[in-house]
Amino acid sequence: MVSVVSDTPGSPAIIEPATWRDLNSLRHLEQVCFPDDAWPLWDLIGVLTFPNVVRLKAMSDGQMVGFIATDIRRAEQTAWVATIGVLPEYRQKGIATALLQTCENHLVVPRIRLSVRVSNDDAIRLYTRLGYQRWRVWSRYYADGEDALVLEKYL
Ligand SMILES: CC(C)(COP(=O)(O)OP(=O)(O)OC[C@H]1O[C@@H](n2cnc3c(N)ncnc32)[C@H](O)[C@@H]1OP(=O)(O)O)[C@@H](O)C(=O)NCCC(=O)NCCS
Repeated sequence: MVSVVSDTPGSPAIIEPATWRDLNSLRHLEQVCFPDDAWPLWDLIGVLTFPNVVRLKAMSDGQMVGFIATDIRRAEQTAWVATIGVLPEYRQKGIATALLQTCENHLVVPRIRLSVRVSNDDAIRLYTRLGYQRWRVWSRYYADGEDALVLEKYL
């Protein structure tokens, strides 16, 4: 499972499976990407080790620059994106698009859903461009009281 993202010449990001060995890199990435919502260490260990999770990293310049994890819930026939993030200096290069599309290509369920802060315009644009549609709104879902927009896509 490896795909190369077209990027600036000489600096492609490679999408590949993540493992528990990526814990420190993931911790850094989560703190940078989610300064207000970063997961505790235990959740990061879980997302790197639990079964039924598709976990992918984007590697560039010898470091993890992006990450996605998706929970597969076979009983619901649905995958849920648990987290996706790209380091700021590597954004706007198609890396999140590649992470999400590679993840979608490896799912064994017909539907994928995710939640996003209603104010997160960058992420909502990404998902909309990739065919995600509004499913519902979870009122005051986040700790600071912001609503979550829940989007879904049939694969
Ligand atoms: C949301 C997030 C993951 C997007 O990551 P990204 O790698 O910048 O996403 P992409 O590069 O695939 O797409 C972003 C834009 O760059 C554009 N782009 C892609 N490749 C490009 C290139 N080579 N040159 C110029 N622009 C490009 C895309 O078309 C897209 O444009 P759009 O915003 O008008 O749709 C990133 O902003 C992030 O990590 N944010 C913080 C964490 C977060 O909010 N995660 C989502 C939680 S639900």
